[in-house]
Amino acid sequence: TTAHLTVDRAFTVAEVPHRLFGSFVEHMGRCVYTGIHEPGHPQADSRGFRQDVMQLVRELGPTVVRYPGGNFVSGYRWEDGVGPVEDRPVRIDGAWHTVETNAFGLHEFVDWAREADVEIMEAINLGTRGVEEARALVEYANHPHGTYWSDLRRKNGAATGTTQDPFDIKLWCLGNELDGPWQIGHKTADEYGRLAQESAKAMKLVDPDIELVAVGSSNRRMPTFGSWEHTVLSHTYEEVDYISMHAYYQEHDGDAASFLAEAVDMDAFIDGVVSTIDAVKAAGKHSKQVDISFDEWNVWYQSGLDTEDQPHQVAKGWQKHPRLIEDAYNVTDAVVVGTLLHSLLRHGDRVKIANQAQLVNVIAPIRSEEDGPAWRQSIFWPFARIAAKARGQIMRLAVDSEQVPTQKFGDVDAVDATVTWDEAAGKLVLFVANRGLEEAADVDLNLNGLQATAISSAEVLAVPERGDRLTANLVDSQDAVGLKPLTDVGLQDGRLHMTLPAMSWGVVELD
Ligand code: AHR
Repeated sequence: TTAHLTVDRAFTVAEVPHRLFGSFVEHMGRCVYTGIHEPGHPQADSRGFRQDVMQLVRELGPTVVRYPGGNFVSGYRWEDGVGPVEDRPVRIDGAWHTVETNAFGLHEFVDWAREADVEIMEAINLGTRGVEEARALVEYANHPHGTYWSDLRRKNGAATGTTQDPFDIKLWCLGNELDGPWQIGHKTADEYGRLAQESAKAMKLVDPDIELVAVGSSNRRMPTFGSWEHTVLSHTYEEVDYISMHAYYQEHDGDAASFLAEAVDMDAFIDGVVSTIDAVKAAGKHSKQVDISFDEWNVWYQSGLDTEDQPHQVAKGWQKHPRLIEDAYNVTDAVVVGTLLHSLLRHGDRVKIANQAQLVNVIAPIRSEEDGPAWRQSIFWPFARIAAKARGQIMRLAVDSEQVPTQKFGDVDAVDATVTWDEAAGKLVLFVANRGLEEAADVDLNLNGLQATAISSAEVLAVPERGDRLTANLVDSQDAVGLKPLTDVGLQDGRLHMTLPAMSWGVVELD
């Protein structure tokens, strides 16, 4: 297989959005409890924050973390998670059929996020609650002091040894997946649009500096996709800054070729939402620009698996932090995750926020066991490298690639890539995947005058020697899949060339 890629310094997409490398912590399964928080674990600090997990989070490098849900947030009372821990109520979480102890709440998350050096993206409950609770939460979080809610924050911080200072949360989600019939407090687009508009208005009256995300469709297959965005934005366009997108992908019936091409779906999904935003903008004669927050995306084996940890099988009784959707990710999944990140970068002019769902244990790049170890899944690697190395401008890339056939999308490019160029640092980085299941790919990149004289690093994630494309990093084989040096790579006469193994994802950095 061959592919010729071309960049030109005159053709850029956008500056790499800082918030494109986000993640998500939901009160679901073992993401919070025994994930980021486990008092009594040998690696936990005095606050119960697992430091082994914290170290992996820092290495993964998310820039922003969405919290506390997810479906969970649509039945959540944020007040239950603040104040002395012994006074917090134990509640039923209907979304995940779980007992929520509220031992971890907003103050704990703020302290955790500060230590992890991530921005907070806070979701409010617009399922069972509304305008009053939303504006109270913004006052609690961001107002300096001297009012009921801000002084309660200071008091609760003092009582629990957590932060008392304003949390300074800039980014807020106006609910979660309210287009979905499964959602607690599911609404029509008009019902949601009006509630979101009024909540947004009231929240911005408390803190005019916040940025707001309206709920978009839960996925592209929703029967209301398109009309939902149109109606919601028709109500909220002037009040909100972003509309959300969610998408999960999986391999169906062993059709790896289609699965490896799912970034084609993501590209089309984003283009569709951009068109809808712009249609509402034009019809409403708005001058401001609403952008996209792709605040849930990942590989998730939602069907075809009959394992104990699937949500529909958890209704065996009410448990605290049961195992839920702890997908074990393999080599194929890592290549797909790489290409999904390429898609997000390609659309960096309109997708300004993106959150991989989720951070620990629950469909996550990081796994941890209760009273046990923490480790990196295969999908950790493309995320960590792209989050660390994608800087400066996203370059428009001309791709002339041999094609691979797929059942779902017809013929698609065998090679999928994206390039960033940080002029100040003099660094150009190519992120590249070979979707071919059998054949290696000879790839060259014509730099067209962009200054680069040396290859400073070249790595590839591929099928390991003693494994196959389904090999995963499990508790007893934590490093089975990872990045290895890419040796078959050279730079000559303004051209970078390399050979990528079959079904692989790579990153090459030039100085
Ligand atoms: O990330 C898991 C779940 O997927 C979230 O709670 C929900 O928003 C989505 O359906």
